[in-house]
Amino acid sequence: MQSTVIAPSILSANFAKLGEEVDNVLKAGADWVHFDVMDNHYVPNLTIGPMVCEALRKHGVTAPIDVHLMVEPVDRIVPDFAKAGAALISFHPEASAHVHRTVQLIKASGCQAGLVLNPATPVEVLDYVLEELDLVLLMSVNPGFGGQSFIPSALAKLRRVREMIDRSGKAIRLEIDGGVKADNIAEIAAAGADTFVAGSAIFNAPDYADVIAKMKSAVSNVR
Ligand code: DX5
Ligand code: ZN
Repeated sequence: MQSTVIAPSILSANFAKLGEEVDNVLKAGADWVHFDVMDNHYVPNLTIGPMVCEALRKHGVTAPIDVHLMVEPVDRIVPDFAKAGAALISFHPEASAHVHRTVQLIKASGCQAGLVLNPATPVEVLDYVLEELDLVLLMSVNPGFGGQSFIPSALAKLRRVREMIDRSGKAIRLEIDGGVKADNIAEIAAAGADTFVAGSAIFNAPDYADVIAKMKSAVSNVR
């Protein structure tokens, strides 16, 4: 079984002091840094790119940086993120003309590869490519913004993808992104997630360590 990972999404951090925010959330017990890249094309919002990822590495961040690409096209930007210090790079199949090729490109760049399924994207998109992946990321909100509510159908989808991963026998992480809070993380973990993105639930709280501890303890009761 994969270890539990809490990956705060810096989308909800204070961008005016990003280095300090990332240091604080890691000190508070976070495992990864979830890095949301939006292009005002694939999604209706615009955020940060490889230069900010590199700046975090230069600032001294050593934790895995989990890059979630919400950009189209995907391939052009992959090597830039690999050079900038990304550990994992995930993308949406709708944003790449050749999904299998993009997965290979991410791995050839030295990063772990993830595929992201939107709330309405069927799990069959994983057929023929699942075994190539290091991570499957299920969106439990529509991508583009932090602070949205968890879409309940993601629970049934988690259970289906958990079965697919278990059947494959491979060490593939199952990550969930959107509307994850301390009070719903237990049912999300019970449905099969091992890796949890949380933005507003952590960065809008006064005490990051307190929320992360609550999340980890809720998860440890069910997995
Ligand atoms: C949404 C992003 C998420 C977002 C999650 O497009 O992919 O990572 O920051 O934010 P919360 O946890 O506030 O729903
Ligand atoms: Zn994300």
